[in-house]
Amino acid sequence: MKKPRPGKIQGYIEFKDVWFAYDYNDEQPEEANWVLKGISFKILPGEIIALVGATGAGKSSIINLLNRFYEVSKGEILIDHVNIKEYKLHLLRKHIGMVLQDVFLFSDSVMNNITLYNSSISEKQVHEAAIKLGASAFIEQLPEKYHFVVQERGSVLSTGQRQLISFIRAYAYNPSILILDEATANVDSETEDLITKATENITSKRTSIVIAHRLATIQNAHKIMVMDHGEIMESGSHKELLEKSGLYKKLFEIQFNTLNNQP
Ligand SMILES: Nc1ncnc2c1ncn2[C@@H]1O[C@H](COP(=O)(O)OP(=O)(O)OP(=O)(O)O)[C@@H](O)[C@H]1O
Ligand SMILES: [Mg+2]
Repeated sequence: MKKPRPGKIQGYIEFKDVWFAYDYNDEQPEEANWVLKGISFKILPGEIIALVGATGAGKSSIINLLNRFYEVSKGEILIDHVNIKEYKLHLLRKHIGMVLQDVFLFSDSVMNNITLYNSSISEKQVHEAAIKLGASAFIEQLPEKYHFVVQERGSVLSTGQRQLISFIRAYAYNPSILILDEATANVDSETEDLITKATENITSKRTSIVIAHRLATIQNAHKIMVMDHGEIMESGSHKELLEKSGLYKKLFEIQFNTLNNQP
């Protein structure tokens, strides 16, 4: 079958009974350590879906599969009703913008880290994207601003700031699907506010999957899916899940109490 070459993706996503183990081996399937166990869900074009759950629940693994960093062991993932295996890899990835949990930056300027040397993205577009996302102020404060050279492992930029640069990169590419895997590391409250605002902007009118550790970020999601040990335990809107008195409510109360008890 000829691989589809979509000019534009609508952004309809479907997971159909997806099973996944990092150590999956066709010949010994019974040995697999399942990380995802029968995951099924649908995301309509333009919807924002949030994934929450304890560390190790399988949230990042879901996006590793969507972008085909790994292949599903069983089941199917469809984008616009076509199995993602049918797409050419570079086209698939072109349509999916990613802001990952650990942002990797090259020891190069902020500008080049955003454009990745794609000459069709102008400096002006980068400035506009940064302003739109509310991330321009911190870049303007760097020596040499957009031409400031980032250290690969240096501590000059905080985790949150690295994520903001990655937001601008994703935004400038204007993908049909946006994936945001929030950093787990501590982010100061000022940067946290910037990230919340940038999240709202970048996900607006775009199919989005937001993996959130701070539940405050995702209260407006169309649907929140709560994961535990590789399964979706419950899903619904923030309000629906609070009424259920299930896992989400428990997570929410823990975070809320922790916040209120901070000195
Ligand atoms: N590259 C890998 N190779 C083998 N096992 C992995 C790999 N990445 C993750 N795992 C395992 O898969 C399980 C799910 O991990 P995953 O990263 O999807 O969790 P998560 O929900 O994103 O957690 P966190 O909130 O800490 O980011 C964990 O048990 C983890 O140890
Ligand atoms: Mg993760």
